[in-house]
Amino acid sequence: MTQPLQFFQYENGILSSENVSLATIAQKIGTPVYIYSAEGFLTPFREFSEGLSEFNHLICFALKSNSNLSILRLLAQEGAGMDLVSGGELYRAEKALVSAEKIVFSGVGKTAEEMQQGLNYHGTGIYSFNVESIPELKLLNEVALNMNRKAPVALRFNPDVDAKTHPYISTGLKKNKFGISKSEVLEVIRSLDQLKGIHLKGLSIHIGSQLLSLAPLDDAFGRLEELLCALDQKLKSPLEFIDLGGGIGITYRDEKTPPIQKYCKLIKKHFGKRLKAPSQLKILIEPGRTLSGNAGVLVSKIIYRKQRRSKDFLVIDAAMNDLIRPALYESYHEIVPIHEKHLLPKVKTNIVGPVCESSDCFASDRPFPAHADQGELVAILSAGAYGFSMSSTYNSRPRPAEVLIQKGRFQVIRSRETWEDLIRGED
Ligand code: LLP
Repeated sequence: MTQPLQFFQYENGILSSENVSLATIAQKIGTPVYIYSAEGFLTPFREFSEGLSEFNHLICFALKSNSNLSILRLLAQEGAGMDLVSGGELYRAEKALVSAEKIVFSGVGKTAEEMQQGLNYHGTGIYSFNVESIPELKLLNEVALNMNRKAPVALRFNPDVDAKTHPYISTGLKKNKFGISKSEVLEVIRSLDQLKGIHLKGLSIHIGSQLLSLAPLDDAFGRLEELLCALDQKLKSPLEFIDLGGGIGITYRDEKTPPIQKYCKLIKKHFGKRLKAPSQLKILIEPGRTLSGNAGVLVSKIIYRKQRRSKDFLVIDAAMNDLIRPALYESYHEIVPIHEKHLLPKVKTNIVGPVCESSDCFASDRPFPAHADQGELVAILSAGAYGFSMSSTYNSRPRPAEVLIQKGRFQVIRSRETWEDLIRGED
């Protein structure tokens, strides 16, 4: 799985990607700035494609992890579909020209308007609504009937498996709000005849994010397999696809993460027979972080070194509004100076942002170059997933610019917000 510095390296002493120096970008575009490497997205995408090449498959990028239009286009051109969770994300997919038959719509709270939007997408409607509750299924049925349509549906099965990840991003336990139980799936199957607006096409699961072991997935896939067997006799027409969700972890520090090839082998172990002809069941997966996490960094400038008797604080110009993961999940992100010469020696440092909250802290007691000082640049690594997409304007801080490096050149793919952007729509 991807590493923090896999797509960014020191070249001539300056952190760069494809010979493009991050210092040059920061100088031209300003800081803080998110910088992505196109190869960073494409390399793991191609690895998944290769691992699943013997099957009829579709890789739906979980666009909540990074929803910039240029990134969506980059992946769509490579053949990716999209997994999305809101009308806004559907709007983005449409703008990025993602084809209808490559879109799945997940999420526990789809509204009637979002359902209509999904059914109207490109005239034909999206590939599947991954339905998470019986009331949702009933509403979707009504909405579809009112439009004289049948809504394509996968039922999201909650396998009651502990993903052993941060509780905020664990989704496959009975106590979580996601999906429906085996008995509810069977109940739905019994009532399908009354749901004339529903076309049941598949089953989906997603047990959590940043999984560091395949064991919980092994367990969940096993339970899905059992459910598929139970459905074999009960369904009038066979299912068209199964959607195995996302969740494979990446390395932020030194975690050992499951290799993509092993993950694909696990899929084969559980579903290989069903995926082969004649049943030709199609396989979908929804990786987010695996494709985007280590494809991006957040580059920031040191505003002050504030010396305290116990330790030094580096106050940088990025803050929790730009990248909330450390404040929200206490998650670890590697931080490195852009200029390699500053790497040594190191002292224990707290690296913090300017926002008025003590949680606005990117690293505590982190050994960090002692000579890094005012005006110098640092890169917060592994910031491509759930970085910009979770950013806000808290403390009235305009959101950073985003830049993409591709084929040895860089391009701004979202301009820095202005103060006018901050007050747009206010009287
Ligand atoms: N499919 C569904 C239905 C999901 O809910 C998610 C993520 C994914 C796929 C993609 O999961 P991934 O491959 O990225 O792990 N903000 C948190 C992560 C939240 C994940 C939510 N669901 C973070 O920064 O760690």
